[in-house]
Amino acid sequence: MYNPRVITIASGKGGTGKTTATANLGTALALLGKKTIILDADIAMANLALILGMEKSRITLHEVLAGEADIKDAMYKGPGGVIVVPCGVSLSGFQKSNPEKLQDAMIELLKGTEFLLIDAPAGLSRDGVIPLAVADEVVLVVNPEISSMADALKTKIMTEMVGSRVSGAILNRANFEKTDLSMREVEKILGVKILEIIPEDPEVRRSAAFKTPIVIRSEDSPAAIAYRRLATKMIGEEFAEPETEREEGVVSRFVRSIFGE
Ligand SMILES: Nc1ncnc2c1ncn2[C@@H]1O[C@H](COP(=O)(O)OP(=O)(O)OP(=O)(O)O)[C@@H](O)[C@H]1O
Ligand SMILES: [Mg+2]
Repeated sequence: MYNPRVITIASGKGGTGKTTATANLGTALALLGKKTIILDADIAMANLALILGMEKSRITLHEVLAGEADIKDAMYKGPGGVIVVPCGVSLSGFQKSNPEKLQDAMIELLKGTEFLLIDAPAGLSRDGVIPLAVADEVVLVVNPEISSMADALKTKIMTEMVGSRVSGAILNRANFEKTDLSMREVEKILGVKILEIIPEDPEVRRSAAFKTPIVIRSEDSPAAIAYRRLATKMIGEEFAEPETEREEGVVSRFVRSIFGE
């Protein structure tokens, strides 16, 4: 029997990269052999299924939260072997959903699971707070800008108010520009550890368009490497850094300078 970790991926501010992080971290954990489920709890504006090409799934979290279906029928095999619990995109589906039923639905999911990652909605409405409350740990996804910090801080406070804890933050879309907040500044403002820095990477958007996680479609692109590194750290293993083209260039130039062509 496993001791499952329930991790809610939250932010406060919209569009910081929660859904992308849930899809890629979940897939990366599954590729490492961990029994992983990703669940879309953004019941009003769901899009996890959209970026995974699973939007045609008939039974989703909406039907489960409406009491019309069993969660077992809303579990689908996704990329890399990750199990996906998608959420519908219709307004009527949202209206009939009762977010209070999430905790009960999770009991079944946790059987035989090592990681359950929950994609939370932006904001702190009732549907946003419940995913914080049911988590063992909350990971904040923030961008290196001040508006993202203010909202993440409110989410951190709310997480603690509902009896959960923030275990760290993912600093996403880092451009390493002078105007960007640094990792240390973000850690100081939020009072949490940065678990990983995910660089700005055009491959992220392309992968979403191709409905395949970047860790599968473009595993050696900068953002994919960062997600794979984070997943490896989460399971307590050492990440074997792939040789990037630039490093390869430096190494081969060095070898050539000694031994000639
Ligand atoms: N590291 C990155 N580099 C470039 N683009 C990124 C990166 N991470 C996310 N994006 C892009 O940012 C946009 C928002 O990402 P995503 O949908 O994951 O955010 P979200 O926090 O789930 O949004 P919402 O609050 O609306 O649910 C998407 O177009 C996505 O492709
Ligand atoms: Mg989202």
